[in-house]
Amino acid sequence: SDVVPFHGTHQAGIATRAQDRLHFATFDLTTTSRDDLVDLLQRWTVAAERMTRGLPAGELGPVSGPYEAPPDDTGEAQELSAANLTITFGFGPSLFDDRFGLADRRPALLEDLPHFPGDMLEDARTGGDLAVQACADDPQVAVHAIRNLARIAFGTAQVRWSQLGYGRTSRTSQAQATPRNLFGFKDGTANILAEDAAALDEHVWVAGADDPDAAWLAGGSYLVARRIRMNIETWDRGSLHEQETIIGRTKGSGAPLSGGKEGTEPDFARQGNGGQPLIDPASHVAMAHPDANGGVRMLRRGYNYTDGSDGLGRLDAGLFFLAFVRNPATHYVPMQNALAKNDLLSEYLRHTGSGLWAVPPGTRDGGWVGQALF
Ligand code: HEM
Repeated sequence: SDVVPFHGTHQAGIATRAQDRLHFATFDLTTTSRDDLVDLLQRWTVAAERMTRGLPAGELGPVSGPYEAPPDDTGEAQELSAANLTITFGFGPSLFDDRFGLADRRPALLEDLPHFPGDMLEDARTGGDLAVQACADDPQVAVHAIRNLARIAFGTAQVRWSQLGYGRTSRTSQAQATPRNLFGFKDGTANILAEDAAALDEHVWVAGADDPDAAWLAGGSYLVARRIRMNIETWDRGSLHEQETIIGRTKGSGAPLSGGKEGTEPDFARQGNGGQPLIDPASHVAMAHPDANGGVRMLRRGYNYTDGSDGLGRLDAGLFFLAFVRNPATHYVPMQNALAKNDLLSEYLRHTGSGLWAVPPGTRDGGWVGQALF
């Protein structure tokens, strides 16, 4: 079957297998009524759970409702399967301002990410009261999901920005092969995998004791999104040698430059004949490795994107970076600061969009997303 259960201890779309396609959208509330917000989350939960089973968003469906009313499903997924659709919801820092009386329940760690060196963020690709990550193995299924959630939100919330992704840049299970990003390198080799429950507990899931004022987030996580434009044309003029030095792994098998196979642990102390470390200390892998970051790891679940070209003959392409972490202050911010300053890769990147959301835990039958917050 190609159905991923919507309900569970944790929301689906995090430690469940990364699908091939993404439609990510953020929403701003257009109401200041707390009841409207609760009502929206309840209606979203019902529709999302249905769509992940391959059903229309509403009970009547695209063609069986009253002839004079808009259908409760838009119809473009009628003959399509569930395609492993997952829909994952997050709450942004702005949701906890004065509008909904939630200020005292804001997790202390949920604040706008700081400005990082080199950031060129566009307001129209940054932030949002709510985030919805729809992943599926069929792009039309993912787009259908976001479109119907936006339709349901009409009058309560509107889309702030959205991003399509078409090739996963990560694996989240031992059962999955490692895919490649647009620089041509395997991506997701050292990721946290679903089979590693201890690593998920240590680095991804928020524990009850982490923030007593935000106990509602226990079993949830934090989602970091970064739209990272890749300077494809400049990269493509670099030599293979240079490209491998920048990443710290081979472009073929993905093995660390210190030797071995894809799965071999990098040996940062190992030197070549000239006495130089085989893995450049400023390479991406050296800088992002837990050894250089106080042991922290993250669950990466990003996608390649290509939004056509930019009018100057360059592809507007890159990596829509998505990562789930237990604590953004320890597991994301320091690493991003270090990478932005010293990573050899950063010369080829431009961060154009960003956001941080608290991802509530999963739901049970009859419950709704974020219920414990209210
Ligand atoms: C590893 C590419 C951005 C964190 C890797 C690997 C590649 C890669 C090829 C090695 C294979 C692997 O273990 O997955 C890229 C590209 C990026 C990008 C092309 C931007 C377009 C980022 C950012 C972060 C990050 C923004 C976090 C702030 C990591 C981590 C690892 C990794 C934690 C695993 C390191 C290890 O444990 O060995 N990345 N990356 N990457 N990257 Fe990135």
